[in-house]
Amino acid sequence: MGGNVRAAGLFGGNHSMAAKMNVGRLEAKTVAVVGAQWGDEGKGKVVDYLAGSFEYIARSQGGHNAGHTVIVGNQRFVLQLIPSGILRPGKKAVIGPGTVVDPAALVAEIETLKKAGVDARGRLYLSDRAHLIFPYHLEMDKAAEAARGEAKIGTTSRGIGPAYEDKMARRGIRVGDLRDPGRFAEKLERVIKEKNAISQATYGRPLGTEGILERYLELGAQISVYIADTASLLNRAIDRGSSVLFEGAQGTMLDIDHGTYPYVTSSSATSGGCSTGLGVPPTRVGGVVGVTKAYTTRVGSGPFPTEMPDLEASEVRDRGKEFGAVTGRPRRCGWLDLEVLRYAKMVNGIDSFVVTKLDVFDTQSDIQVCVGYMYKGDRVNDMPGEVEKFSQVTPVYKTVPGWRKPTYGVREERDLPPAARDYLKFISDSLEVEIGMISTGPERDATIISSGTKLASWL
Ligand code: IMP
Repeated sequence: MGGNVRAAGLFGGNHSMAAKMNVGRLEAKTVAVVGAQWGDEGKGKVVDYLAGSFEYIARSQGGHNAGHTVIVGNQRFVLQLIPSGILRPGKKAVIGPGTVVDPAALVAEIETLKKAGVDARGRLYLSDRAHLIFPYHLEMDKAAEAARGEAKIGTTSRGIGPAYEDKMARRGIRVGDLRDPGRFAEKLERVIKEKNAISQATYGRPLGTEGILERYLELGAQISVYIADTASLLNRAIDRGSSVLFEGAQGTMLDIDHGTYPYVTSSSATSGGCSTGLGVPPTRVGGVVGVTKAYTTRVGSGPFPTEMPDLEASEVRDRGKEFGAVTGRPRRCGWLDLEVLRYAKMVNGIDSFVVTKLDVFDTQSDIQVCVGYMYKGDRVNDMPGEVEKFSQVTPVYKTVPGWRKPTYGVREERDLPPAARDYLKFISDSLEVEIGMISTGPERDATIISSGTKLASWL
């Protein structure tokens, strides 16, 4: 990897973490992109931009709960399962073993792409080891949420959690099973029997399972051309020196282990998930990019210390068009939380941050940034692990002046208003890590690359 290291850009200081992470790196360029907050950080646009410099783009976790919005020219794509690299001609897109796949959603996405002139054939690889989502998973997702009442998680109702539950309970059915209709029918029958007994006992009714077998075998035939051993595919590609971009879904605070449990998704959304979810060992993940908005949002329930009061939140929501790409739900909005980002930097090993949606603050007079938490009168130094404690922390804010000038579409660091540059520098200095890229709008070219940064060297 490497690339030309020019004079460091404004946010491209030689921070110790970034420098250390560069030691002993491999030849092939392999970089992971993860969400540093609660998802919806703008990873779709970032991955689409970076994908221009990589040959393979691979998803390691999650399912069609993700919504990656990408604007190419005057076309707007919302990709839920297929890595957004598919939108770049000639690039290869991989859906790894750590994902959960609803074949109907996958076929629909392939069809939508086809209508827009994007052919996935020969460029899309679906792991034979990925687990399948069935209609009963969706039913169970909704039933479990209803049963939680006030304590509901606010899931996307896509069956993600129940599909991962089955995987971990070792009764899941995998994509590869679709290749053998007899074996598939046998496994499905066994699982349905078990599920119906549970559903009857818990919810007093059996699950709707009619027609699943025929429908799934039909879908299986449609996707069979894409099924592959993706761990071998990727590792061999890396052996040959091919570049791979790992596309994270959701975000660090939604990670099953490191997020605000239980208000999380059911997979590993942090950089370690790239290894377990794709079979690409940690020694082969060469760099990590963390994506954050200039502020914070979250959908669904759970603690959110820097959440803004209604009026301010609705202004940011309107300016930032903060409505779910998958569910259309209004997102909760809040100030940037440096504690969250510090934690994200630590558990992901982030080498370079990308800040998106800077322009949303263009009309803001003062900006607050959370620099720490107080809990029962004491300063808290690390993010509390218990959600009950995390719900009770109060943010310590630093107020910085806004720039009140348009930054929309700005492409050069030097063309940013001084106060915007100061805001970014404050973030970079506080986190002791570079900001390698700034997104100033949804379009591909509404992007600033900070010269001399690690991220710049990966392009
Ligand atoms: P699930 O992934 O549908 O089980 O939902 C669990 C939690 O993760 C809920 O709070 C969802 O709103 C959230 N979530 C899941 N996927 C995304 C995403 O792509 N962006 C933001 N939040 C998500």
